[in-house]
Amino acid sequence: MIIRFNLNGVPAAPDCNPESRLLQILREQFGLLTVRCGCTSGYCGACSVLLNGELVPSCMVAMFTIKGKSVVTLEGFRASGEYGEILDGFREAGYNPCDYCRPGKVLGIHALLKKIPLPEENEILSGLSGHHCRCNEYSSLIRAVTLVSLKFSRRRS
Ligand code: FES
Ligand code: FES
Repeated sequence: MIIRFNLNGVPAAPDCNPESRLLQILREQFGLLTVRCGCTSGYCGACSVLLNGELVPSCMVAMFTIKGKSVVTLEGFRASGEYGEILDGFREAGYNPCDYCRPGKVLGIHALLKKIPLPEENEILSGLSGHHCRCNEYSSLIRAVTLVSLKFSRRRS
């Protein structure tokens, strides 16, 4: 079945099983490998993408549900000015997520700061609770998100 949607700003029309997962189609048919395949059960956040602007685990999204919608992966998000600001925040905070977690966390921070522009520590932890990592660098993650939020707010003012 052909499913038409917008992928990183461009029309896409993959031929696929409508029950197949968005994660699988993004990686296998479009070669979008920043969408990591971790737990495949909605737990780790490594496969996160933006679906109509909302953060979702793409391993839990069936293809038939995305017809006519907009999907943005990190490959598309890199074109935004926010991407550089988030990476600057990581560097300044001494936060260095592994390459496996980084794409999902970048999109997760974007989604969090869209909802809560200047989050408190507890809001950062709960807002990013869908991203599980084994290194547990929570203090530097909080520092990084706080720095990024200040960069965003300076840009807006
Ligand atoms: S691979 Fe989708 S949440 Fe882990
Ligand atoms: S950042 Fe990847 S395991 Fe912690």
